[in-house]
Amino acid sequence: MSKIEYVKLSVTDEKIRERYLEEIDNVLQSGSFILGKEVELFENVLAEYLNCKHVISVGNGTDALFLSLSALGIGEGDEVITVANSFIATSNAIKLVGATPVFIDVDDSMNLDPNCINKAITNRTKAIIPVHLAGLAANIEEIIKFAQNNNLLVIEDCAQAIGVKVNNKMVGNFGDFGCFSLHPLKNLSVFGDGGFITTNDTRLFEKVKLLRNHGLINRDTSIMIGGNSRLDEMQAVLGRLNLEFLNSNNRKRVEYATFYKENLKEYPITFPHVFENTSPVFNTFMIFYEDRNKLREYLKQYGIETKIHYPKLITEQKLYLNERKEIKKTIDLNKKILSLPIHPKHEFKEIEYIVYIIKKFFDTL
Ligand SMILES: Cc1ncc(COP(=O)(O)O)c(C=O)c1O
Repeated sequence: MSKIEYVKLSVTDEKIRERYLEEIDNVLQSGSFILGKEVELFENVLAEYLNCKHVISVGNGTDALFLSLSALGIGEGDEVITVANSFIATSNAIKLVGATPVFIDVDDSMNLDPNCINKAITNRTKAIIPVHLAGLAANIEEIIKFAQNNNLLVIEDCAQAIGVKVNNKMVGNFGDFGCFSLHPLKNLSVFGDGGFITTNDTRLFEKVKLLRNHGLINRDTSIMIGGNSRLDEMQAVLGRLNLEFLNSNNRKRVEYATFYKENLKEYPITFPHVFENTSPVFNTFMIFYEDRNKLREYLKQYGIETKIHYPKLITEQKLYLNERKEIKKTIDLNKKILSLPIHPKHEFKEIEYIVYIIKKFFDTL
């Protein structure tokens, strides 16, 4: 078997490529390139897919978080509770608005543990940002319950979790805002940077919409200080086309995850917990294994590329070393994680081969 890359991002299917090119050509001929009717249409189809009231597209997932925090008035002197095992964007957004991240532990799903929030609260705590990491739902209903009882705001970081449902409700609908990334590595992506925000609160929707475009209510009148975080028409048409493939791609990820789990259950490997009544979408497929570096090296010898999400916790990054944290379980689990290939462009036989090699690893130990 030739090399198995961690993901397969190039567009090789001739028919699909033609459809992308056709859509791009329509935009070229339209003469409208930023925040036009295609962006609006994309926002509408996303709102329909996610069954939420409002979607505001933005420049990327980091901006989605930054603008959500800004719209909620979070800034200097405020604390935001979050996790250390995420892409650094989650806490950089907190820092960018001038607030302070406070890191708490995860539960067995590798996501923010609602039971750990209470201990971290101070009179400066304003919000919680749970991440639905790897496309597995956080215990969001408990997090929301806690937040409501303690007057805290919630921003869901859904960058890796489009299509995840909790009790039949799409993530992004639980918090005050849901923040999504359309980066090429996400389950729904564009061909560059992109992102969007969900909310069911019309007042917040109006505010964040102003923030993404210089506070402009029309071409010439600005009523709020804002920036430029606009999505362009080209990405919007490509994103809308990709949305057509999202459910089948997510199904394929689930199929591969199920195969991995079923076939590796006899080995000393465990997996992040999937809560009952939730439907994961496996943006990454994480396993826990004590000697993950050895397994990783073995797989590499057979041409199988794996990743670690993340080799450094956010709290291990230089500019975060002094932040308040209580993350013992996160640190323990993080030493054992390894992400196996699960991209929908992988063929089933490639997943079978990976399982075969992992079995061989354990059988020869
Ligand atoms: C959990 C998480 N949050 C936020 C982001 C930021 O998204 P973007 O790269 O689109 O800015 C990402 C994506 O990389 C992510 O994985």
